[in-house]
Amino acid sequence: MSRRAVIIGTGHYLPDQVIDNSWFEDKLDTTDEWIRSRTGIERRHFAAEGQNTSDLAIRAARAALDKAGLQPDDLDGIILATSTPDFTFPAVATMVQAGLGMTRGFAFDVQAVCAGFVFALANADAMIRAGQASRLLVIGAETFSRIMDWTDRGTCVLFGDGAGAVVVEAQQGSGESTDRGILSSDLNSDGQYRELLHVDGGVSSTGTAGHLRMQGNLVFRHAVEKLARTAHTALDRAGLQPGDVDWLVPHQANMRIIAATAQKMQLPLEKVVLTVADHGNTSAASIPLALSVADGEGRFKPGDVIVTEAIGGGLSWGSVVLRW
Ligand code: UT7
Repeated sequence: MSRRAVIIGTGHYLPDQVIDNSWFEDKLDTTDEWIRSRTGIERRHFAAEGQNTSDLAIRAARAALDKAGLQPDDLDGIILATSTPDFTFPAVATMVQAGLGMTRGFAFDVQAVCAGFVFALANADAMIRAGQASRLLVIGAETFSRIMDWTDRGTCVLFGDGAGAVVVEAQQGSGESTDRGILSSDLNSDGQYRELLHVDGGVSSTGTAGHLRMQGNLVFRHAVEKLARTAHTALDRAGLQPGDVDWLVPHQANMRIIAATAQKMQLPLEKVVLTVADHGNTSAASIPLALSVADGEGRFKPGDVIVTEAIGGGLSWGSVVLRW
C-alpha cells in the first residue's frame, strides 16, 4: 500500500480584459501574423489596475474547492507558485489563505518561474506521501503584465495573466503504476543559464521589480531538448512508456515548442491540451489553467495518464506524471 496524491478538483480564473494581437500592432513593429505564426498566441488576458496576483489566485482556489466539494478548513495547506507576488512578502499563499477564510494549516510560495507549478505539485506530492498533509491546494498564479518592457517586442507580446488551482488529496494506492494520482516527477535546474531568462530588478539588487529579459531563441533550443527528456525520465520512473500517455498538458509558451515536444514523444496533437492561443504564456499559471479548462470540458476520463512538463527562468524544468 502507498499514499498517492490524487487531484480531486480543478479551477481557474482569467481577468476580464482580453488583449488581441492587433493591440500591439500600432504600439510596436509587430504583426498579428508574426505573433500567431511564431508562437501560436492569438490573445491573452491582462489583470485590471488594482487586481493583484492574490485576487486571481483566490478566484481560482474557490473554483477548485467548489469542484472538490470542500471547505477551506478541510485543507492542510496551500502551496502557490508565482514569480509575480503582490508584495515581496508575505507569501501570496497566505493572502489566499486569508481570502478564503481558512483558519488552519500552512501556506507558502514556490518560485521556479514557468516551471513553478510543476515544482509546487511535486512538493505537494512529496508532503502527501510523507504523511505531512492529506489535502492541499496547489496554485499557479501570475500577473506577468506587470513586469513587461512594453518597448521589447521580443517579450511583451508573449505573456498574459491568470491563475489555476488544483486540490490534491491523499488516497490509498497499491504502489503500482495503475494507481490513481501522481505517479512520478522529475525536477531540474541549471543556474549557469540564469541570464537567458531573468528579471533585471529585485529587492536586494536594484530595489525595483524590474522587467523580464529573454534570449528567446536560446531558451527555445533548451526547451525543445529538455522538455521531452524530462517527460521521458518521469515516465520511466512511473514504469510507463510514451505510448501509455493519454494527455500531454504542457507549459503553454509557444506552439512550436509544444509541437516539437509532442513529436519527440510520438504523441499526436489530439492528445495535447492547448490553451496557448487564448491565454498566451501565463508562466506558473499555464499548466493548472490548462488542466482546469480541459477538466471543465470533460476531456479527462478516470484512469487517463497525464504528463505535464514546463521550463522557465533559472533555467528550471521538470515534469509530473499522474493518473486521473
Ligand atoms: O515560458 C518560459 C520559457 N520561454 C519560452 O519557452 C520562450 C521560448 N522562445 C520562443 O518562444 C521564441 O524564441 C520567440 C517567440 C520568443 C521568438 O521566436 P524566434 O523564432 O526564436 O525568433 P527570434 O528571437 O530568433 O527572432 C527572429 C526575428 C528577429 O528579427 P531579425 O533579427 O531576424 O531581423 C526578431 O527581432 O523576429 C524578430 N521579432 C519580431 N518580429 C515581429 C522578435 N519579436 C518580434 C515580434 N514581431 N513580436
